[in-house]
Amino acid sequence: MKSNGFEPRIIAFLCRWCAYAGADLAGVSRLEYPPNIVPILMPCSGRVDAQYVLLAFKNGADGVLIGGCHTPNDCHYISGNYKALKRYALLRKYLKDIGINPRRLRIEWISATEGQKFARVIEEFTNELKKLGPLKLR
Ligand code: FES
Repeated sequence: MKSNGFEPRIIAFLCRWCAYAGADLAGVSRLEYPPNIVPILMPCSGRVDAQYVLLAFKNGADGVLIGGCHTPNDCHYISGNYKALKRYALLRKYLKDIGINPRRLRIEWISATEGQKFARVIEEFTNELKKLGPLKLR
């Protein structure tokens, strides 16, 4: 893939029970995926405040991933992933309004047994961000 050497920085907010455990499994299974993410352990995807996402972009992230438990019913706090999904929809609109391509924000449901899915998502997102290029804030 042609990216002119650009390596995107991805901040990944991952819920402890599912997506983070999926990332762990990918690591333990020695699955290969791009080293572009900085994983941040969250208690639940529902705890990923909009401010965290905006601060990540402000502080140099080219993309932000929110990873949580599958909907419906898998969230350990019952409705955290629904809250995350609603917030995600609003955030994408807001990002567009402030001139940030909403494709730079992604949400994924990844279970603790889905190390392969985790690796695939990181690969896809990294490639998409390479196409978009570095985030330039005004
Ligand atoms: Fe994983 Fe809520 S505990 S999304």
